[in-house]
Amino acid sequence: MPEPPHRRRAHASSSDLERYAGLFAERTRVMRSSAMRDLMAVTARPEVISLAGGLPDTSTFPPQTFAAQMTRIAQESAAEALQYGPTEGFRETVDCIVEVMGAEGMLPDPEDVIVTTGGQQAIDLVCKTLVDPGDAVICEAPTYPGAIPVFCSYQAETIQIECDAAGMRIDELEDTLERLEIEGRRPKFIYSVPTFQNPAGVTMSLERRRRLVEIARSRELLVVEDNPYGLLRYGGEALPPLYQLDGGDFVIYIGTFSKILSPGIRLGWAVAPPPVMEKVVLGKQASDLCTSTLTQYFVREHFASGRWREYVESVGAIYRERRDAMLAALERYFPAQASWTEPEGGLFVWATLPPYIDTSDLLAKALREDVAFVPGQAAYVDGRGRNSMRLNFSAGGEDEIREGIRRIGKTIAEQVELYGALTGEAPEVAPRPQSQRSDGENVVPFRKAEGA
Ligand SMILES: Cc1ncc(COP(=O)(O)O)c(C=O)c1O
Repeated sequence: MPEPPHRRRAHASSSDLERYAGLFAERTRVMRSSAMRDLMAVTARPEVISLAGGLPDTSTFPPQTFAAQMTRIAQESAAEALQYGPTEGFRETVDCIVEVMGAEGMLPDPEDVIVTTGGQQAIDLVCKTLVDPGDAVICEAPTYPGAIPVFCSYQAETIQIECDAAGMRIDELEDTLERLEIEGRRPKFIYSVPTFQNPAGVTMSLERRRRLVEIARSRELLVVEDNPYGLLRYGGEALPPLYQLDGGDFVIYIGTFSKILSPGIRLGWAVAPPPVMEKVVLGKQASDLCTSTLTQYFVREHFASGRWREYVESVGAIYRERRDAMLAALERYFPAQASWTEPEGGLFVWATLPPYIDTSDLLAKALREDVAFVPGQAAYVDGRGRNSMRLNFSAGGEDEIREGIRRIGKTIAEQVELYGALTGEAPEVAPRPQSQRSDGENVVPFRKAEGA
Protein backbone atom coordinates (compact mmCIF):
# COMPACT_ATOMS: atom_id res chain seq x y z
CA MET A 1 0.00 0.00 0.00
CA PRO A 2 1.37 3.48 -0.75
CA GLU A 3 2.33 5.63 2.22
CA PRO A 4 -0.17 8.38 3.07
CA PRO A 5 1.22 11.73 1.86
CA HIS A 6 1.33 13.30 5.35
CA ARG A 7 2.21 11.46 8.50
CA ARG A 8 1.46 13.10 11.79
CA ARG A 9 4.10 13.17 14.45
CA ALA A 10 3.05 11.06 17.43
CA HIS A 11 4.03 13.67 20.04
CA ALA A 12 4.71 17.38 19.88
CA SER A 13 8.32 18.17 20.78
CA SER A 14 9.16 21.12 23.05
CA SER A 15 10.28 23.19 20.04
CA ASP A 16 6.91 22.52 18.39
CA LEU A 17 5.17 23.75 21.52
CA GLU A 18 7.30 26.92 21.58
CA ARG A 19 6.47 27.60 17.96
CA TYR A 20 2.71 27.58 18.68
CA ALA A 21 2.65 28.91 22.23
CA GLY A 22 2.41 32.56 21.19
CA LEU A 23 -0.76 31.76 19.28
CA PHE A 24 -2.69 30.19 22.10
CA ALA A 25 -5.73 32.02 23.46
CA GLU A 26 -5.56 33.25 27.04
CA ARG A 27 -8.21 30.71 28.06
CA THR A 28 -5.95 27.79 27.19
CA ARG A 29 -3.83 28.69 30.22
CA VAL A 30 -6.63 27.63 32.55
CA MET A 31 -7.97 24.73 30.51
CA ARG A 32 -7.83 21.41 32.34
CA SER A 33 -8.05 17.90 31.12
CA SER A 34 -10.81 15.76 32.51
CA ALA A 35 -9.21 13.33 34.93
CA MET A 36 -11.54 10.62 33.69
CA ARG A 37 -10.48 11.04 30.06
CA ASP A 38 -6.84 10.72 31.11
CA LEU A 39 -7.63 7.66 33.15
CA MET A 40 -9.48 6.01 30.30
CA ALA A 41 -6.21 5.84 28.38
CA VAL A 42 -4.54 3.99 31.28
CA THR A 43 -7.47 1.69 31.94
CA ALA A 44 -7.83 0.64 28.30
CA ARG A 45 -5.43 -2.26 29.01
CA PRO A 46 -7.67 -5.34 29.03
CA GLU A 47 -6.18 -6.72 32.25
CA VAL A 48 -7.16 -3.59 34.23
CA ILE A 49 -10.38 -3.73 36.23
CA SER A 50 -11.65 -0.21 35.88
CA LEU A 51 -13.96 1.16 38.52
CA ALA A 52 -12.93 4.59 37.19
CA GLY A 53 -15.23 5.30 34.26
CA GLY A 54 -18.85 6.30 34.39
CA LEU A 55 -19.75 3.87 31.67
CA PRO A 56 -23.19 2.35 31.41
CA ASP A 57 -23.12 -1.30 30.34
CA THR A 58 -24.05 -1.03 26.67
CA SER A 59 -23.77 -4.82 26.26
CA THR A 60 -27.22 -4.92 27.90
CA PHE A 61 -28.81 -3.45 24.76
CA PRO A 62 -29.99 -6.37 22.58
CA PRO A 63 -27.94 -6.35 19.33
CA GLN A 64 -30.87 -7.74 17.34
CA THR A 65 -33.09 -4.83 18.48
CA PHE A 66 -30.34 -2.39 17.51
CA ALA A 67 -29.97 -4.09 14.10
CA ALA A 68 -33.73 -4.05 13.47
CA GLN A 69 -34.05 -0.37 14.42
CA MET A 70 -31.11 0.73 12.27
CA THR A 71 -32.33 -1.40 9.36
CA ARG A 72 -35.74 0.24 9.52
CA ILE A 73 -34.08 3.68 9.43
CA ALA A 74 -31.97 2.62 6.42
CA GLN A 75 -34.95 1.24 4.57
CA GLU A 76 -37.50 3.92 5.34
CA SER A 77 -35.62 7.18 5.94
CA ALA A 78 -32.04 6.86 4.71
CA ALA A 79 -31.87 10.23 2.95
CA GLU A 80 -33.39 12.17 5.87
CA ALA A 81 -31.35 10.33 8.50
CA LEU A 82 -28.13 11.12 6.62
CA GLN A 83 -29.01 14.83 6.24
CA TYR A 84 -28.37 17.90 8.47
CA GLY A 85 -31.18 18.74 10.88
CA PRO A 86 -32.49 21.78 12.75
CA THR A 87 -30.20 23.28 15.42
CA GLU A 88 -32.89 22.83 18.09
CA GLY A 89 -33.29 19.16 17.18
CA PHE A 90 -36.21 17.34 15.57
CA ARG A 91 -39.65 17.76 17.09
CA GLU A 92 -39.93 13.95 17.30
CA THR A 93 -36.77 13.83 19.45
CA VAL A 94 -38.16 16.60 21.65
CA ASP A 95 -41.35 14.55 22.07
CA CYS A 96 -39.22 11.65 23.35
CA ILE A 97 -37.48 14.06 25.74
CA VAL A 98 -40.82 15.34 27.02
CA GLU A 99 -41.81 11.71 27.64
CA VAL A 100 -38.59 11.01 29.58
CA MET A 101 -39.02 14.13 31.70
CA GLY A 102 -42.70 13.24 32.21
CA ALA A 103 -41.56 9.95 33.75
CA GLU A 104 -40.05 12.04 36.57
CA GLY A 105 -43.07 14.32 36.89
CA MET A 106 -41.87 17.22 34.73
CA LEU A 107 -43.93 18.89 32.02
CA PRO A 108 -41.63 21.07 29.91
CA ASP A 109 -42.93 23.16 27.03
CA PRO A 110 -41.42 21.51 23.91
CA GLU A 111 -40.51 25.01 22.69
CA ASP A 112 -38.12 25.38 25.66
CA VAL A 113 -36.12 22.24 24.74
CA ILE A 114 -32.93 21.99 22.67
CA VAL A 115 -31.36 18.68 21.65
CA THR A 116 -27.63 18.72 22.33
CA THR A 117 -24.63 16.55 21.60
CA GLY A 118 -24.75 14.90 25.03
CA GLY A 119 -25.44 16.53 28.36
CA GLN A 120 -21.80 17.59 28.26
CA GLN A 121 -22.50 19.98 25.39
CA ALA A 122 -25.47 21.34 27.30
CA ILE A 123 -23.13 22.28 30.19
CA ASP A 124 -20.77 23.86 27.67
CA LEU A 125 -23.56 25.85 25.97
CA VAL A 126 -24.94 27.10 29.28
CA CYS A 127 -21.46 28.38 30.17
CA LYS A 128 -20.98 29.83 26.69
CA THR A 129 -24.25 31.71 27.12
CA LEU A 130 -23.77 32.95 30.67
CA VAL A 131 -20.13 33.02 31.75
CA ASP A 132 -17.59 35.79 31.17
CA PRO A 133 -14.00 35.43 32.45
CA GLY A 134 -13.90 35.92 36.21
CA ASP A 135 -17.62 35.28 36.75
CA ALA A 136 -18.57 33.22 39.76
CA VAL A 137 -20.14 29.81 39.21
CA ILE A 138 -21.28 27.79 42.19
CA CYS A 139 -21.34 23.99 42.36
CA GLU A 140 -21.18 21.14 44.83
CA ALA A 141 -18.05 19.89 46.60
CA PRO A 142 -17.40 17.34 45.21
CA THR A 143 -18.86 18.08 41.78
CA TYR A 144 -19.16 16.21 38.47
CA PRO A 145 -15.49 15.97 37.38
CA GLY A 146 -16.45 16.58 33.73
CA ALA A 147 -18.01 19.96 34.57
CA ILE A 148 -14.76 21.36 35.98
CA PRO A 149 -12.91 21.55 32.63
CA VAL A 150 -15.93 23.38 31.18
CA PHE A 151 -16.03 25.95 33.98
CA CYS A 152 -12.25 26.37 33.61
CA SER A 153 -12.34 26.83 29.85
CA TYR A 154 -14.80 29.72 30.24
CA GLN A 155 -12.47 31.16 32.91
CA ALA A 156 -15.12 31.05 35.61
CA GLU A 157 -14.25 31.36 39.27
CA THR A 158 -15.66 28.08 40.53
CA ILE A 159 -16.91 28.15 44.11
CA GLN A 160 -17.68 24.77 45.65
CA ILE A 161 -20.24 24.28 48.40
CA GLU A 162 -19.79 21.34 50.74
CA CYS A 163 -22.01 18.37 50.11
CA ASP A 164 -23.07 15.82 52.72
CA ALA A 165 -25.38 12.79 52.77
CA ALA A 166 -28.36 15.07 51.98
CA GLY A 167 -26.66 16.87 49.09
CA MET A 168 -25.46 20.46 48.84
CA ARG A 169 -25.37 22.32 52.19
CA ILE A 170 -27.89 25.06 51.59
CA ASP A 171 -26.85 26.95 54.74
CA GLU A 172 -23.31 27.15 53.38
CA LEU A 173 -24.71 28.22 50.01
CA GLU A 174 -26.61 31.07 51.66
CA ASP A 175 -23.50 32.23 53.51
CA THR A 176 -21.60 32.23 50.22
CA LEU A 177 -24.33 34.16 48.42
CA GLU A 178 -24.30 36.74 51.25
CA ARG A 179 -20.54 37.12 50.94
CA LEU A 180 -20.73 37.52 47.18
CA GLU A 181 -23.49 40.10 47.54
CA ILE A 182 -21.34 42.14 49.92
CA GLU A 183 -18.59 42.00 47.26
CA GLY A 184 -21.15 43.22 44.69
CA ARG A 185 -21.05 39.93 42.78
CA ARG A 186 -23.89 37.84 41.43
CA PRO A 187 -23.03 34.25 40.55
CA LYS A 188 -24.04 33.29 37.03
CA PHE A 189 -25.57 30.01 38.17
CA ILE A 190 -25.61 27.29 40.78
CA TYR A 191 -24.79 23.94 39.16
CA SER A 192 -26.14 20.88 40.93
CA VAL A 193 -26.56 17.16 40.30
CA PRO A 194 -29.20 16.70 42.99
CA THR A 195 -30.14 13.08 42.30
CA PHE A 196 -27.64 10.19 42.72
CA GLN A 197 -24.87 12.66 42.34
CA ASN A 198 -21.80 12.07 40.25
CA PRO A 199 -19.39 11.55 42.01
CA ALA A 200 -20.74 11.18 45.57
CA GLY A 201 -23.84 9.08 44.89
CA VAL A 202 -25.87 11.21 47.32
CA THR A 203 -29.31 12.73 46.75
CA MET A 204 -30.43 16.20 47.84
CA SER A 205 -33.22 16.02 50.43
CA LEU A 206 -36.66 17.41 49.63
CA GLU A 207 -36.26 20.16 52.22
CA ARG A 208 -33.00 21.33 50.62
CA ARG A 209 -34.51 21.14 47.13
CA ARG A 210 -37.33 23.40 48.23
CA ARG A 211 -34.95 25.85 49.87
CA LEU A 212 -32.66 25.93 46.86
CA VAL A 213 -35.55 26.74 44.54
CA GLU A 214 -36.85 29.41 46.94
CA ILE A 215 -33.40 31.00 47.12
CA ALA A 216 -33.14 31.03 43.32
CA ARG A 217 -36.56 32.72 43.07
CA SER A 218 -36.07 35.27 45.80
CA ARG A 219 -32.57 36.24 44.60
CA GLU A 220 -33.37 35.80 40.90
CA LEU A 221 -30.49 33.38 40.41
CA LEU A 222 -30.29 30.56 37.92
CA VAL A 223 -29.89 26.96 39.01
CA VAL A 224 -28.57 24.44 36.49
CA GLU A 225 -29.98 21.02 37.37
CA ASP A 226 -28.03 18.21 35.70
CA ASN A 227 -29.98 14.97 35.99
CA PRO A 228 -28.56 12.01 34.04
CA TYR A 229 -29.42 9.43 36.71
CA GLY A 230 -32.90 10.24 38.05
CA LEU A 231 -34.53 7.23 36.38
CA LEU A 232 -31.88 4.80 37.66
CA ARG A 233 -33.34 4.34 41.15
CA TYR A 234 -32.73 1.15 43.11
CA GLY A 235 -34.44 1.99 46.39
CA GLY A 236 -36.13 4.74 48.40
CA GLU A 237 -38.75 7.23 47.27
CA ALA A 238 -38.48 9.41 44.16
CA LEU A 239 -38.07 13.12 44.90
CA PRO A 240 -39.28 15.92 42.63
CA PRO A 241 -36.58 17.38 40.38
CA LEU A 242 -35.70 21.04 41.02
CA TYR A 243 -37.17 21.83 37.59
CA GLN A 244 -40.54 20.50 38.70
CA LEU A 245 -40.48 22.40 42.01
CA ASP A 246 -39.58 25.64 40.23
CA GLY A 247 -41.66 25.26 37.08
CA GLY A 248 -38.75 26.25 34.85
CA ASP A 249 -38.42 29.99 35.61
CA PHE A 250 -35.07 29.85 37.39
CA VAL A 251 -34.00 26.27 36.75
CA ILE A 252 -32.20 25.31 33.57
CA TYR A 253 -32.54 21.57 33.19
CA ILE A 254 -29.98 19.25 31.57
CA GLY A 255 -30.80 15.66 30.63
CA THR A 256 -29.25 12.91 28.54
CA PHE A 257 -29.99 9.60 26.84
CA SER A 258 -26.49 8.40 27.76
CA LYS A 259 -27.43 6.46 30.89
CA ILE A 260 -30.92 5.33 29.90
CA LEU A 261 -30.04 4.22 26.37
CA SER A 262 -26.49 4.85 25.08
CA PRO A 263 -23.67 7.38 25.50
CA GLY A 264 -22.39 6.48 22.01
CA ILE A 265 -25.34 8.21 20.37
CA ARG A 266 -24.23 11.50 22.04
CA LEU A 267 -27.73 12.79 22.63
CA GLY A 268 -28.66 15.05 25.48
CA TRP A 269 -30.78 18.13 25.98
CA ALA A 270 -31.31 21.37 27.82
CA VAL A 271 -34.52 23.09 28.86
CA ALA A 272 -34.30 26.81 29.54
CA PRO A 273 -36.56 29.88 29.72
CA PRO A 274 -37.08 31.35 26.21
CA PRO A 275 -34.68 34.34 26.50
CA VAL A 276 -31.87 32.00 27.64
CA MET A 277 -32.77 29.38 25.04
CA GLU A 278 -32.55 31.93 22.24
CA LYS A 279 -28.86 32.50 23.09
CA VAL A 280 -28.18 28.80 23.68
CA VAL A 281 -29.44 28.05 20.15
CA LEU A 282 -27.10 30.68 18.70
CA GLY A 283 -24.24 29.17 20.68
CA LYS A 284 -25.01 25.71 19.37
CA GLN A 285 -25.23 26.89 15.78
CA ALA A 286 -21.69 28.16 16.14
CA SER A 287 -20.50 24.97 17.85
CA ASP A 288 -21.81 22.20 15.61
CA LEU A 289 -24.86 23.36 13.58
CA CYS A 290 -26.97 20.48 14.84
CA THR A 291 -26.82 17.24 16.77
CA SER A 292 -26.48 13.99 14.80
CA THR A 293 -29.59 13.38 12.74
CA LEU A 294 -28.85 9.67 12.53
CA THR A 295 -28.86 9.13 16.27
CA GLN A 296 -31.99 11.26 16.67
CA TYR A 297 -33.66 8.87 14.24
CA PHE A 298 -32.41 5.96 16.33
CA VAL A 299 -33.98 7.45 19.48
CA ARG A 300 -37.21 8.01 17.60
CA GLU A 301 -37.27 4.32 16.56
CA HIS A 302 -36.42 3.18 20.08
CA PHE A 303 -39.25 5.21 21.60
CA ALA A 304 -41.70 4.16 18.86
CA SER A 305 -41.29 0.58 20.12
CA GLY A 306 -42.97 1.77 23.34
CA ARG A 307 -40.38 -0.14 25.37
CA TRP A 308 -37.87 2.47 26.41
CA ARG A 309 -38.91 2.28 30.08
CA GLU A 310 -38.66 -1.48 30.02
CA TYR A 311 -35.02 -1.14 28.95
CA VAL A 312 -34.30 1.41 31.70
CA GLU A 313 -35.88 -0.92 34.26
CA SER A 314 -33.84 -3.87 32.97
CA VAL A 315 -30.50 -2.03 33.24
CA GLY A 316 -31.59 -0.60 36.60
CA ALA A 317 -32.13 -4.14 37.91
CA ILE A 318 -28.62 -5.11 36.79
CA TYR A 319 -27.04 -2.00 38.33
CA ARG A 320 -28.89 -2.59 41.61
CA GLU A 321 -27.24 -6.02 41.87
CA ARG A 322 -23.86 -4.52 41.03
CA ARG A 323 -24.28 -1.76 43.61
CA ASP A 324 -25.11 -4.40 46.21
CA ALA A 325 -22.06 -6.43 45.16
CA MET A 326 -19.86 -3.35 45.53
CA LEU A 327 -21.26 -2.40 48.94
CA ALA A 328 -20.82 -5.97 50.21
CA ALA A 329 -17.25 -6.06 48.85
CA LEU A 330 -16.44 -2.71 50.48
CA GLU A 331 -17.70 -4.08 53.77
CA ARG A 332 -15.54 -7.13 53.36
CA TYR A 333 -12.32 -5.76 51.89
CA PHE A 334 -11.94 -2.10 52.88
CA PRO A 335 -10.26 -1.45 56.22
CA ALA A 336 -12.29 -0.15 59.13
CA GLN A 337 -10.77 3.32 58.65
CA ALA A 338 -12.69 3.78 55.39
CA SER A 339 -16.28 4.91 54.95
CA TRP A 340 -18.46 5.24 51.89
CA THR A 341 -21.82 6.42 50.65
CA GLU A 342 -24.65 3.99 49.90
CA PRO A 343 -26.41 5.37 46.83
CA GLU A 344 -30.08 4.69 46.17
CA GLY A 345 -29.45 4.99 42.44
CA GLY A 346 -27.03 6.15 39.77
CA LEU A 347 -23.62 4.66 39.06
CA PHE A 348 -21.23 5.72 41.83
CA VAL A 349 -20.06 5.13 45.38
CA TRP A 350 -17.79 7.70 47.03
CA ALA A 351 -15.32 6.35 49.55
CA THR A 352 -13.41 8.37 52.12
CA LEU A 353 -10.11 7.12 53.53
CA PRO A 354 -8.00 8.31 56.46
CA PRO A 355 -6.54 11.79 55.84
CA TYR A 356 -2.96 10.52 55.53
CA ILE A 357 -3.82 8.57 52.36
CA ASP A 358 -3.52 10.47 49.09
CA THR A 359 -5.69 8.66 46.53
CA SER A 360 -3.66 10.00 43.56
CA ASP A 361 -0.62 8.19 44.98
CA LEU A 362 -2.80 5.24 45.84
CA LEU A 363 -4.01 5.07 42.23
CA ALA A 364 -0.43 4.61 41.00
CA LYS A 365 -0.09 1.66 43.39
CA ALA A 366 -3.53 0.30 42.49
CA LEU A 367 -2.65 0.38 38.80
CA ARG A 368 0.24 -1.95 39.57
CA GLU A 369 -2.46 -4.32 40.84
CA ASP A 370 -4.39 -3.70 37.61
CA VAL A 371 -7.29 -1.85 39.14
CA ALA A 372 -8.37 1.79 38.75
CA PHE A 373 -10.68 4.35 40.37
CA VAL A 374 -11.06 8.14 40.11
CA PRO A 375 -9.07 10.00 42.80
CA GLY A 376 -11.31 12.43 44.68
CA GLN A 377 -9.23 15.46 43.71
CA ALA A 378 -10.74 15.28 40.20
CA ALA A 379 -14.02 16.48 41.68
CA TYR A 380 -12.60 19.67 43.23
CA VAL A 381 -11.02 22.77 41.75
CA ASP A 382 -8.76 23.47 44.69
CA GLY A 383 -6.94 20.25 45.54
CA ARG A 384 -9.43 19.05 48.15
CA GLY A 385 -10.67 15.47 48.08
CA ARG A 386 -7.19 13.95 48.38
CA ASN A 387 -8.29 11.14 50.66
CA SER A 388 -11.41 10.16 48.72
CA MET A 389 -12.23 8.19 45.59
CA ARG A 390 -15.08 7.60 43.16
CA LEU A 391 -15.97 4.00 42.44
CA ASN A 392 -18.21 3.01 39.53
CA PHE A 393 -20.38 -0.10 39.70
CA SER A 394 -22.19 -0.07 36.34
CA ALA A 395 -19.48 -0.97 33.83
CA GLY A 396 -18.41 -4.46 34.89
CA GLY A 397 -19.95 -7.63 36.29
CA GLU A 398 -20.24 -8.52 39.96
CA ASP A 399 -17.15 -10.76 40.06
CA GLU A 400 -15.08 -8.01 38.52
CA ILE A 401 -16.41 -5.49 41.04
CA ARG A 402 -15.61 -7.79 43.97
CA GLU A 403 -12.11 -8.46 42.68
CA GLY A 404 -11.51 -4.76 41.96
CA ILE A 405 -12.58 -3.77 45.46
CA ARG A 406 -10.47 -6.57 46.95
CA ARG A 407 -7.37 -5.24 45.16
CA ILE A 408 -8.03 -1.62 46.14
CA GLY A 409 -8.74 -2.73 49.72
CA LYS A 410 -5.42 -4.55 49.82
CA THR A 411 -3.58 -1.44 48.57
CA ILE A 412 -5.29 0.73 51.20
CA ALA A 413 -4.50 -1.77 53.95
CA GLU A 414 -0.81 -1.63 52.98
CA GLN A 415 -0.88 2.16 53.23
CA VAL A 416 -2.56 2.06 56.63
CA GLU A 417 0.05 -0.39 57.84
CA LEU A 418 2.90 1.67 56.42
CA TYR A 419 1.55 4.76 58.16
CA GLY A 420 1.45 2.87 61.43
CA ALA A 421 5.01 1.64 60.96
CA LEU A 422 6.39 5.07 59.99
CA THR A 423 4.68 7.09 62.68
CA GLY A 424 4.80 4.46 65.38
CA GLU A 425 1.15 5.25 65.95
CA ALA A 426 -1.56 2.71 65.71
CA PRO A 427 -3.71 4.31 63.02
CA GLU A 428 -6.90 5.73 64.42
CA VAL A 429 -9.61 3.11 64.12
CA ALA A 430 -12.96 4.39 63.00
CA PRO A 431 -16.01 2.23 63.62
CA ARG A 432 -16.95 0.13 60.64
CA PRO A 433 -19.95 1.68 58.91
CA GLN A 434 -23.18 -0.17 59.49
CA SER A 435 -24.94 -1.81 56.61
CA GLN A 436 -28.14 0.20 56.46
CA ARG A 437 -28.77 0.35 52.81
CA SER A 438 -31.62 1.51 50.63
CA ASP A 439 -34.21 2.47 53.11
CA GLY A 440 -34.22 6.19 52.72
CA GLU A 441 -32.53 8.00 55.54
CA ASN A 442 -30.10 5.35 56.71
CA VAL A 443 -27.39 6.01 54.18
CA VAL A 444 -23.82 5.78 55.39
CA PRO A 445 -22.66 9.37 55.09
CA PHE A 446 -19.35 10.56 53.76
CA ARG A 447 -20.34 13.31 56.14
CA LYS A 448 -23.57 13.00 58.05
CA ALA A 449 -26.32 15.37 56.92
CA GLU A 450 -26.23 18.30 59.32
CA GLY A 451 -28.12 21.52 59.35
CA ALA A 452 -29.72 22.45 56.08
C1 LIG B 1 -23.52 14.68 35.96
C2 LIG B 1 -23.19 14.44 34.54
N1 LIG B 1 -23.43 15.40 33.63
C3 LIG B 1 -23.14 15.23 32.35
C4 LIG B 1 -22.57 14.07 31.89
C5 LIG B 1 -22.22 13.95 30.43
O1 LIG B 1 -23.02 13.02 29.84
P1 LIG B 1 -23.25 12.93 28.27
O2 LIG B 1 -22.52 14.02 27.59
O3 LIG B 1 -22.82 11.58 27.89
O4 LIG B 1 -24.74 13.11 28.14
C6 LIG B 1 -22.29 13.04 32.79
C7 LIG B 1 -21.63 11.81 32.34
O5 LIG B 1 -21.22 10.97 33.06
C8 LIG B 1 -22.61 13.23 34.15
O6 LIG B 1 -22.38 12.29 35.07
